[in-house]
Amino acid sequence: MTYKSMPKVELHTHIEGCAPPAFIRGLAQEKSIDISGIFNKDGTYAYRDFAHFLEVYEAACTTLQGPQDFYRLTKAILEESASHGVVYQETFISPDFCGGGDVGAWREYLHAIEAAAAEAERDHNITLKCVATCVRHFGAEKAKAAAKCAAETKGDFVTGFGMGGAETFGKPADFAYAYDMAREAGLELTCHAGEWGGPEMIADTLRDLKVTRIGHGVDAIKDRELVARIIDMDVVLEVCPGSNVFLNATGDWPDHPIKSLRDAGVKVTVSTDDPPFFGTTMTHEFDMLAETFGWDETDFKSLNQTALDAAFCDDATRAKIQKRLDT
Ligand code: ADE
Ligand code: ZN
Repeated sequence: MTYKSMPKVELHTHIEGCAPPAFIRGLAQEKSIDISGIFNKDGTYAYRDFAHFLEVYEAACTTLQGPQDFYRLTKAILEESASHGVVYQETFISPDFCGGGDVGAWREYLHAIEAAAAEAERDHNITLKCVATCVRHFGAEKAKAAAKCAAETKGDFVTGFGMGGAETFGKPADFAYAYDMAREAGLELTCHAGEWGGPEMIADTLRDLKVTRIGHGVDAIKDRELVARIIDMDVVLEVCPGSNVFLNATGDWPDHPIKSLRDAGVKVTVSTDDPPFFGTTMTHEFDMLAETFGWDETDFKSLNQTALDAAFCDDATRAKIQKRLDT
């Protein structure tokens, strides 16, 4: 039994983190960049732990040098996602990797990515929205520049603002200015927290950045009072079980907190994060959840519905995707 063909809504992916290793190797070859050290002999990405993962990730990003590279990447990603039943996807796109925080350059990257997304929608019936994202360990000043890029381009495609990177770098309050700017521009907000930083990081993020969604958030399970607050505030978790298991952010599949969080009443959703880095796909996530927890079509329909309800998109898009989930 596989859930490959079931329609899926995915809220948490990183555009560069979706790049297959062969795609990055191809770009490196075209540009004569030597990044052979970031690959295993079998061609997969090679890293030891989360800190090293971020280094390898950034090394891979050095091959993505212009709008055209992101155009090609977006086409490849969406074709792959659609083959796993994904009908709606949100992806984190960082102005830091797309023009270095310059608004004019960012616009050019977005133009190329949006063109690729429009072609994928036509060819593969998949919709993409962008959550512009700052990188936490690049610091608060870079985050402000990223928020400015996001605010200037808020619209049909750029609908949200987020933050990834090293979660233990600085405090959420350091990034409040960037988040305030994004909120004032009308962007919806999410932030990685509780992947590595414990329940306190989730609590501080909710208090200081006033997000409606949390990336990962699995550490919430360690604090029952926080779980109650998350439910009370109607916060949605973008849970990425395969990523957590692969990076050892949680225990193995049977010990993953997604089931306990869901059973407690938390709104959870399922995403892949950086699929080729973690040897996963949306099909694999659904199949593993079915195998591990006995979740079935009814469970996955409800997870999809939670994700669509929490999607950072306009009403027309939500209605269109709803129809695909209902048929
Ligand atoms: N950037 C890409 N993947 C990430 C993750 N799992 N956590 C934080 N930042 C990331
Ligand atoms: Zn992530």
